[in-house]
Amino acid sequence: MTKHKLIAGNWKMNGALQANEALVRDIAAGLNNAACTVAVCVPAPYLAQVRALAQGSALALGAQDVSRHAQGAYTGEVSAAMLCEFGVRFCLAGHSERRQYHGETDALVAEKAKTALAVGITPIVCVGETLAEREAGQTEEVVKRQLAAVIHVNGHCISEIVVAYEPVWAIGTGRTASPEQAQQVHALLRRQLAAATPHPERVPLLYGGSMNAANAASLLAQADIDGGLIGGASLKAADFLQIVAAAGAAVAG
Ligand code: PGA
Repeated sequence: MTKHKLIAGNWKMNGALQANEALVRDIAAGLNNAACTVAVCVPAPYLAQVRALAQGSALALGAQDVSRHAQGAYTGEVSAAMLCEFGVRFCLAGHSERRQYHGETDALVAEKAKTALAVGITPIVCVGETLAEREAGQTEEVVKRQLAAVIHVNGHCISEIVVAYEPVWAIGTGRTASPEQAQQVHALLRRQLAAATPHPERVPLLYGGSMNAANAASLLAQADIDGGLIGGASLKAADFLQIVAAAGAAVAG
């Protein structure tokens, strides 16, 4: 596997001004010559702080959500243009926690991806089945439906997105999908993208769900796993940097 990898941290609703300082400084300092793209998706109030801390380093800035609306009377929402002003390069769209706790539908997620693309931010669109869906044999149907909505709305721009396959049962549970289970779904997503773009290989397909320093290498060695979306392990610089190193090694190997 020689393709450049992408490792994105997802802090979720974690962080504090003081703690962020050490975390970001340590990550940024550890990225010298990193052989992959590395980003952290931080809570919106910390975008300015993390941008300043990461200045001059290879660490890219990401957001965790974006409004589908451009501006106006949408209390509590953050627009893509606002994210742009803070140097955001990546934005999560449709993380399972947003789908589950905030009622985000496939159609809304697709609109959010479009809104990000319109201002030049790369959306990281999250798809994945729940445990009940996997046990009912619906994994394929669910992830295909979720990605189809994004393809439908984003058409010819589809090769500019990132897709993260995150089985809901693996998120924050310590129960990782096996490399084979993950690869199987990634191959499926790649085939689906191939029907929509002549360049399906350009779409980075990330795996997410309890990825950590110990299991990253075997997941990243899979043919269609182009990187990782890291929750818990992105909150510790040493762990996160080990995953980054594993991504670099996967490319070199
Ligand atoms: P986790 O979260 O690594 O803590 O399982 C991943 C995610 O939700 O993006």
